[in-house]
Amino acid sequence: MEVLEAIKTRRSIRRYKTTPVDDKTLEQVLEAARWAPSWANTQCWSFVVVRNSNIKDELASTLSAVNPATDAIRIAPVVIVACAKLKKSGCSRREPVTDKGDSWYMFDVALAMQNLTLAAHSLGLGTVHVGAFNAEKVASILEVSEGFCVVEMTPLGYPDQESRLTPRKELSEIAFREKFGNRMKGG
Ligand SMILES: Cc1cc2nc3c(=O)[nH]c(=O)nc-3n(C[C@H](O)[C@H](O)[C@H](O)COP(=O)(O)O)c2cc1C
Repeated sequence: MEVLEAIKTRRSIRRYKTTPVDDKTLEQVLEAARWAPSWANTQCWSFVVVRNSNIKDELASTLSAVNPATDAIRIAPVVIVACAKLKKSGCSRREPVTDKGDSWYMFDVALAMQNLTLAAHSLGLGTVHVGAFNAEKVASILEVSEGFCVVEMTPLGYPDQESRLTPRKELSEIAFREKFGNRMKGG
């Protein structure tokens, strides 16, 4: 699938078939994440691939009470949990070098996960970025090492729903010419 088409047609998928995802396909998806850019190429990310039903149930129990992705975490054949090593991204000798502190790991992991979701979509698989959960509980369930934190997770599997178009702001609202606030088009 061509990249612009993948960007425009990817949608969050929250209903999944139980059809397994084979290892080769999974590797292609992870490979896309691996090639994401990152702060000074520090590649702070790591990914925990969960297929075990009991662990998926435990992960689902960490989602916020009304999170619409809870059943997806339980039912999809695979859940990928993205973690980050702290004090790498945005840092020099473990000290932050910008006004964003050491939070650049969020940015790097997002780039990797967006690569992953687009690659998954191009292979006919669904995903949904899931951020509203108790990350400390997930770290404990997955025995994530000290110095790392859990950033997001996504179910991965074959969609059991038509994707729904979600609206976006018009370019005229978000893109400016030369100075912030100078509209590109219209008013
Ligand atoms: C950082 C981030 C966190 C998100 N967390 C959740 C979540 O916890 N549960 C959920 O169902 N969707 C979550 N989403 C999915 C968004 O709701 C979705 O991407 C947005 O509504 C646009 O829809 P689309 O992905 O179909 O284009 C999250 C998306 C992002 C980027």
